[in-house]
Amino acid sequence: MALENILLEIEKGVATIFINRPEKLNALNKATIQELHETVKSVDENPEIRVIVITGSGTKAFVAGADISEFANFSAEEGSLLASKGQTILFDFIENLKTPVIAAINGFALGGGLELAMACHFRIASENAKMGLPETSLGVIPGYGGTQRLPQLVGKGHAMEMIMTAGMIDAETAKRYGLVNHVVPQEDLHSTYMTIATRIMKNSPVAISKAIEAINANFLTGVNGYAIEINSFGACFATEDFKEGTTAFLEKRKAEFKGN
Ligand code: COA
Repeated sequence: MALENILLEIEKGVATIFINRPEKLNALNKATIQELHETVKSVDENPEIRVIVITGSGTKAFVAGADISEFANFSAEEGSLLASKGQTILFDFIENLKTPVIAAINGFALGGGLELAMACHFRIASENAKMGLPETSLGVIPGYGGTQRLPQLVGKGHAMEMIMTAGMIDAETAKRYGLVNHVVPQEDLHSTYMTIATRIMKNSPVAISKAIEAINANFLTGVNGYAIEINSFGACFATEDFKEGTTAFLEKRKAEFKGN
């Protein structure tokens, strides 16, 4: 698939996916969502890639939301379909990937943009970043998981206030709320995520993917996360990575994980 709205850079096992529509502040139109799905899927399936980073092109925006011009005339049915398809192919898809996904929020992350960042496994932000779910100012609610993931990350009260006011918060406030883990000058965003990715890549990819699954299970209704943890913990004992990790520790050397 030819990529028109996405740039992909691969560096030392880290795939950085840039959403690349800077003239529209990287707003997510249908084509971009499809390209993101294809790109994320292909890098997740590539065993050489140990960490995925999603960011926006340029210095102004991560993603300024879903592309308003595409859905302004939608019916109720078309609106539901837009949300359900988007959630399936992109937002839930990213949350459940086996490869760790970091959002590097380099500017505005609004509406679908903040929802995309929240679907990633964790977030870092540049000092100029501004985040919000402005959907109620357009007469709609967040439809890409925002009403569910925002309260998970910041608590019900902050989520209610952010969604009701449709306002933006700055990066430091987002850090205080627990929405982002780190805030750094924009010019340090790349080196910061590469440093974190390097630390992640020292560890077992199999164990990390099982940890992602178990942590996500905590937020699923009707699923016993403790049972998932027990199963995944046991399954780790049958992996080459576990043998390598424990042997390397006992031999006082660095583990060389192969991811199987
Ligand atoms: N959908 C479609 N186009 C968008 C967009 C979106 N979510 N966000 C920005 N754009 C477009 C603008 O229409 C403009 O295009 P144009 O030059 O062809 O007119 C271009 O991106 C630049 O945006 P502009 O509004 O001129 O930049 P700004 O610096 O004055 O304001 C924002 C920046 C982020 C405050 C403003 O663009 C905005 O409020 N965007 C919409 C945010 C939103 O409601 N997102 C949720 C959607 S569900």
